[in-house]
Amino acid sequence: MSANHAATPEVSALAQAAAQPLAPAAELAKRFPLSASDHRASDTQRQQALDELRFGTVFSDHMAHAHWSYEAGWSQREVVPFAPLTLSPAAAVFHYGQEVFEGIKAYRHEDGSIWTFRPGYNAARLAASCRRLCLPELEHEDFVASIASLVRADNQWVPSKPGSSLYLRPFMIASEAFLGVRSSHEADYYVIASPVGPYFGDKVQAVDIWVTTSYHRAGVGGTGAAKCGGNYAASLIAQEEAYANGCKQVCFLDDVTASHIEELGGMNVFVVRADGSVVTPRLSGTILEGCTRSAIIELLKSEGTSVSEADLTLSALLDDVRSGKVTEIFACGTAAVVTPIGALKGKDFEVRLEAGPVTSHIHQRLTGIQFGKVEDEFGWMYRLA
Ligand code: COI
Repeated sequence: MSANHAATPEVSALAQAAAQPLAPAAELAKRFPLSASDHRASDTQRQQALDELRFGTVFSDHMAHAHWSYEAGWSQREVVPFAPLTLSPAAAVFHYGQEVFEGIKAYRHEDGSIWTFRPGYNAARLAASCRRLCLPELEHEDFVASIASLVRADNQWVPSKPGSSLYLRPFMIASEAFLGVRSSHEADYYVIASPVGPYFGDKVQAVDIWVTTSYHRAGVGGTGAAKCGGNYAASLIAQEEAYANGCKQVCFLDDVTASHIEELGGMNVFVVRADGSVVTPRLSGTILEGCTRSAIIELLKSEGTSVSEADLTLSALLDDVRSGKVTEIFACGTAAVVTPIGALKGKDFEVRLEAGPVTSHIHQRLTGIQFGKVEDEFGWMYRLA
């Protein structure tokens, strides 16, 4: 397996931001005052939703919102009833795709308390995506405040079934009604919340991956490192190709040499070698710097595992899977958590893998920290309620 190890900083700017201390949630939540909904789901309706958890189909009673204008900056911070948005059909987001988003979860611990994982990381990544998409940056504390206030208002929507959580989707759109091509002079930021189970269906299971050679997710100098809707829109045709070939997810190669594995449609990827070392594609500027990816690197290093960030050549990876030098591959992300990869398929190849002990260990340790069952020695958890 070719391993062109590029210098990746020991602690990235996002990980540094994640380590900054935050004020308590009760205090921050006051920045987003609640206008309570008169039309909350009944206890029975909510319980039914919490009993039948899928991914991203049901939403809680409220949403957080803030408005920005070029003249006045950020204002109108609030938590309001979850409801359809009213936007001009001329709003820039509909025409030029000026939009960014995040994914973060709220976890219920056994004692009933509610926590989230490294919110400073997502706050910093949202700000970085905003800079790339020419949207206004939201202060990190406002980001955390919006989540804190929404989760405190909708705390009954945080499920307690093992492995389930309240998925939070912060997003920002360009809302100025103007058809000229320039960065919008108005923007709106929202957070919506959805109780979720495993991303890929009923239980954690290995997924087969289609490696596309027809499409690329991102190009050098493009938006690949930003979490913007356009990247996901561009990935859908390849995702369709994956479905047509019996796979649940697509894997993209770099656009310059079309030989290195970059990332999946909505997840980062890790490779485990028979000698116990672990490799993940380096952050080339076209890869999203995943929060789960960064946590896994830190976790494994703390246990003494050799982890490298490198260019992963597809042909060498296939050879190494066939010869047994690579024993496990897994995907990770906020939504996917840690998901074993059962096969890599492409136009003229297919290799199969087993879900192995390293993947399962990382899944256990990470979710153990998130659900308060394993000591959080990294200080990653932040109490919301
Ligand atoms: C996440 O893991 O939170 C993501 O945003 C990936 C996907 C659901 C788009």
